[in-house]
Amino acid sequence: MFTSELPVKSMMSWSFPRAESLPPYGFVITDAVKARVLATGADIIDLGLGNPDQPTPKPIVDRLLETAVIGKNHRYHPGRGILPLREAAAAWYAKRYGVKFDVEQELVITMGAKEGMSHLCLAILDRGDTALVPDPCYPIHAGAPRIAGADVALYRAALDVEPADAIAEGIERVEKSGKRVKLVITNYPQNPTGQVISREQMGALVRVVQRSGAMLLHDIAYADFDFRSRYAPSIFDCGLPADEVKEFGVETFSMSKSYNMPGWRIAFMAGNARLVGALHHIKTYLDYGTFAPLQYAAAWALENGDRFAEELRDLYVLRAQALAAGLRGAGWEGVTEPSGTMFVWAPIPRVLSTKGSLDATTRLIEQAHVAVAPGIGFGPGGDTHVRFALIEDPPRIAEACERIGRLFAVPKRAAGA
Ligand SMILES: Cc1ncc(COP(=O)(O)O)c(C=O)c1O
Repeated sequence: MFTSELPVKSMMSWSFPRAESLPPYGFVITDAVKARVLATGADIIDLGLGNPDQPTPKPIVDRLLETAVIGKNHRYHPGRGILPLREAAAAWYAKRYGVKFDVEQELVITMGAKEGMSHLCLAILDRGDTALVPDPCYPIHAGAPRIAGADVALYRAALDVEPADAIAEGIERVEKSGKRVKLVITNYPQNPTGQVISREQMGALVRVVQRSGAMLLHDIAYADFDFRSRYAPSIFDCGLPADEVKEFGVETFSMSKSYNMPGWRIAFMAGNARLVGALHHIKTYLDYGTFAPLQYAAAWALENGDRFAEELRDLYVLRAQALAAGLRGAGWEGVTEPSGTMFVWAPIPRVLSTKGSLDATTRLIEQAHVAVAPGIGFGPGGDTHVRFALIEDPPRIAEACERIGRLFAVPKRAAGA
């Protein structure tokens, strides 16, 4: 029989288990509502996605332009990332945290922290493994282990929760079910809650993971945005000898936030040579790293960019104060200023909604023309909150708060009438 005579079978019967196991990405779930409101010609103040609004500092862009015209930089660059960038990353660690890394074994450049974390999980996790992640969390912290086929267990993240205790409780829960936690993912200053932790608290949580025999992946994307100290603590500078932490831990730092380079897609991961090696190994199949001129510019930023990070941090503090005060003035109860990150994590007041964060966000978009990120997008533990990203200047923040104040005034007026 000729193939052309065989019955036609539909591709629709195939399932896509990985894609289908993932819930809609946290930041797109209200896109349709936004699109509908925008179509009416409304001006939405969008504080949803944490997409830094400022341009990359000019000297960093200049370095990109200088190196982009050099022909040899247009080629594939196999390996762990260009050596000057790995050296700059090692120097960044030495200066801030007094830790040394072997740039051949313990460091790898990634195409953003999201890419690095996802591919690390793909490299080291499989079906039957369990990863312990915060709830609520930045979506890839739960998404990366899921994409790798692993089970995800949650530990509670909130301002009043001690990280070491929450992680210990999570590990115990998994062990009681007869399994072991293979990887713990942490992130401080934390997105979305804004929680920052001290060096001692970091030490305690690292010890908990060490004792359990799990591996540790720490995301330090907001290393420059701890409003209580200049640099947020690193797992490699937490009171335990760095060499001990290197036995089971890796840390990823992104260029996106400190230097306003989110669209460039560049970050690095440092720590345990076996974990870094596994990530590098899988990446040799998947990519040749990011465009070399971006890497040269990133190296310049790491070596010279502290002042930009400090200016940005001041800007976020200012915006956080303006937003927290504005929301309180609008009648939004329970809003506190964050101690870090670029977000305000606000508990949903009854006057806005009693039906959870998706309903609250929809009301804010439709009736106040202010977009936020619904807490449910960060995990089930986030449904009591919405997240405001500090990506607008104080006048626009004030306008957003006025609009919210007018929305809150409606039920009050109705009740008084
Ligand atoms: C905690 C955290 N990690 C990582 C990222 C993204 O990093 P990158 O742009 O390098 O993928 C973000 C972005 O919002 C974040 O909040």
